[in-house]
Amino acid sequence: MLGGMPVFEAIAQRFYDLMDEDPAYAELRAMHAADLSPMRESLPQFLAGWAGGPRDWFEAHPDRCMMSIHKPFRITASAADQWAGAMQRAIADVAPEPKRIADAMGEILADLCAAMAVRPPQNPVTS
Ligand code: HEM
Repeated sequence: MLGGMPVFEAIAQRFYDLMDEDPAYAELRAMHAADLSPMRESLPQFLAGWAGGPRDWFEAHPDRCMMSIHKPFRITASAADQWAGAMQRAIADVAPEPKRIADAMGEILADLCAAMAVRPPQNPVTS
C-alpha cells in the first residue's frame, strides 16, 4: 500500500542519514557499528517482510529475531525514543501515500521501540 521496496529503501536510507548526521541521535548512533552500510542494506529488507511484503530477510536469516538481535544491547528509554523519533522523521520526509498508513507505521514502530526499552522493575517489593 505504501509503494513497496523502493519506499522502504528510501525510509531506511533517510533514517540512517539522520542517525549519522543529527546529534539528537548521538546515543543511538554510538550503539551502532562505525560502518552503517550493513544496516542500510538489512533494515529495508527487514521492514518489507515485517510489513507483509517480500520475506527475503527472514528467509536468509531464519535464526534471527528481534529479541536475539537486540539482546546484546541495553536499550535505554532515550535510545528507544531516538530510534522512534528518527524513524518517524524519516517516514515524514519520504512522505509515502496514503499518509494514514505511513503515520500508522511510525506509531506502531514507536510502540515497538518503547516495548524494547529496559525499564526499572515494576511494583518492586518494598518490605
Ligand atoms: C528501540 C530502539 C532500538 C535500538 C536502540 C536498536 C539498536 C540496534 C543496534 C545497535 C543494532 C546493531 C547494529 C550494528 O551492528 O551496527 C540493531 C540491529 C538491528 N535492528 Fe535495531 N534497535 C532498535 C529498534 C529496532 C526496531 C524497532 C527495529 C525494526 C522494526 C529494528 C531492527 C533491527 C534489525 C533488523 C537489525 C539487524 C539487522 C541484521 O542483523 O540483519 N531495531 N539495532
